[in-house]
Amino acid sequence: MLRTNHCGELSEENLGESITLAGWVTTRRDLGGLLFIDLRDRSGIVQLLFSPDRADLHERAGDLNREDVIKVEGTVIERGKDNINPELNTGTIELEVEDMEVLNSSENLPFSPSGGLEVNENTRLKYRYLDLRRDRMRDNIELRHRAFKIIRDYFDEEGFWEIETPELTKSTPEGARDFLVPSRLHHGKFYALPQSPQLFKQLFMISGFEKYFQIVKCFRDEDLRADRQPEFTQLDMEMSFVDEEDVIKVTEGMIKRVFDEILDLDLELPLPRMTYEEAMNRYGSDRPDLRFGLELVDLSPVVADSNFNIFSGTVNNGGVVKGLSLSDPNNYNRSQLDSLEDYAKELGAKGLLWAQVDKEGLDGQFTSHLTGETEQSILDELEADPGDLVFIVADSRRTTNEVLGGMRLKLANQNDMIPEGEWEFTWVRRFPLFGTDDSGNITSEHHPFTSPRDEDVEKLSEDPLNVDAKAYDLVLNGIELGGGSIRIHDRDLQQDIFDVLGISQEEAQEKFGFFLNALNYGAPPHGGIALGLDRLAMLLAGEDSIRDVIAFPKTGMAQSPLTGAPMEVSREQLDDLGLQVKGENKD
Ligand code: AMO
Repeated sequence: MLRTNHCGELSEENLGESITLAGWVTTRRDLGGLLFIDLRDRSGIVQLLFSPDRADLHERAGDLNREDVIKVEGTVIERGKDNINPELNTGTIELEVEDMEVLNSSENLPFSPSGGLEVNENTRLKYRYLDLRRDRMRDNIELRHRAFKIIRDYFDEEGFWEIETPELTKSTPEGARDFLVPSRLHHGKFYALPQSPQLFKQLFMISGFEKYFQIVKCFRDEDLRADRQPEFTQLDMEMSFVDEEDVIKVTEGMIKRVFDEILDLDLELPLPRMTYEEAMNRYGSDRPDLRFGLELVDLSPVVADSNFNIFSGTVNNGGVVKGLSLSDPNNYNRSQLDSLEDYAKELGAKGLLWAQVDKEGLDGQFTSHLTGETEQSILDELEADPGDLVFIVADSRRTTNEVLGGMRLKLANQNDMIPEGEWEFTWVRRFPLFGTDDSGNITSEHHPFTSPRDEDVEKLSEDPLNVDAKAYDLVLNGIELGGGSIRIHDRDLQQDIFDVLGISQEEAQEKFGFFLNALNYGAPPHGGIALGLDRLAMLLAGEDSIRDVIAFPKTGMAQSPLTGAPMEVSREQLDDLGLQVKGENKD
């Protein structure tokens, strides 16, 4: 070993010991002849003292650059009284250096790993290995490792086996585009990288493995956001002979263990639950942030007969009128209110109505259309007080919920209503099995292997949009941590679902034939869940983006500034694969 100790682990217990350390030069301070260097390794920082008494050593230390890698031998001594640093574990001691070897030197740095985060993200990602030298990033990566270890131990104790599933495979529908890998041996054919191990984990249940889990990379070619990456990591699990309660219980046990061991937080189980319908009605979102109120209130019953056509017309045409009341609002001027309306329109609203609440009642552009009685009913329903600011949307139920759900988050952010350091979990259950896409086609709300609730099966052909699923999502602070369901294990029912989705028998056979065949050979009842581990690590680390808990993430444009991926490839490689890039002239 090059060293006897680790920098950050030294303490007064080591006083008087002769030790050897190795690490990176972090900062250097010259105080009237005494030279101090902070030496850093993975465990932390310790101060080195170079005294002018050792002239040669002192001079060589004076030539060191930031991030040079050195090895030092010396004696652990007490720091002078004025030199104590209570911020550091090693703040009361230092190493008086007696010998030093430069193991490697660093060139001028593009940015200092010990500086702040104000470097632009492209540069951070291009030199990610330097960026990862920051304390904060190292802590995040360590936290991620610890969380993974806790999860692995937990599932092992619960009798689950970690089994790998193929990465070069066939499309698994999870609602995103596939990343494709061309086959060299079979020109014109492609593997798909898995959007999730969904079908393989179901096959494990048919194999009789009963309890499977995997910490697994998944790939989805979709628009990126702070909580989305093209490749990300799931905790994926599946169990046989279970119902929703069993999967929820095992998942809660894992979450409790992780929060206890990482944050020393004792979560109360069971975690709260609500139905999808309640989440949409009260919060306008299927992943409600429960750290603040600002709930949506249905005003339809009290405005249905109003003289104001926007209200009565919407309700009479099957839509809804909903509102929310913001207490102690910031001082919004006219143009800020206009930009809120623009935001509501971006979310799909035709318009956004707003009014101030004063002692006389509602004061807004539309309020002259209302009778005093309707006005009062609106105030009562919204529980609005003088000083509040009221926002109302009238539209289809879906649009109204989506718009006000978005406004709720925007207003809460603008008015600092979201408390730091709170953890508000909820399960959202009873999702609809199907939704519709922009063209009105029926689509799976989760994936087509999700089981309908038993009591809804008979509605499948007549009234599919009102069939609820045995599906559950776990939400934390407004972020979808995970989702799962009880699966269909009956081949005929699976075919019925494909029928509703407009997937013909031939198409189903071509896409999922291997799986449908397996359903013929004794598939047990089964179900499971997958949690986004990057999102979990992000929340545990108190970060706003999953990029800060992934060692080598991609940019918002799905590129790696470090490696330059994605890259053009050589003509030879394309030829090997039997590919030609569109628009390119083949010579
Ligand atoms: P789902 O599609 O809900 O379910 O994915 C599960 C969880 O994975 C995380 N996630 C992502 N994280 C980062 N970047 C992404 N692009 C991304 N996409 C998803 C989310 C999400 O909740 N096979 C089903 C699970 C099951 O039914 O068992 C599935 O993949 O946290």
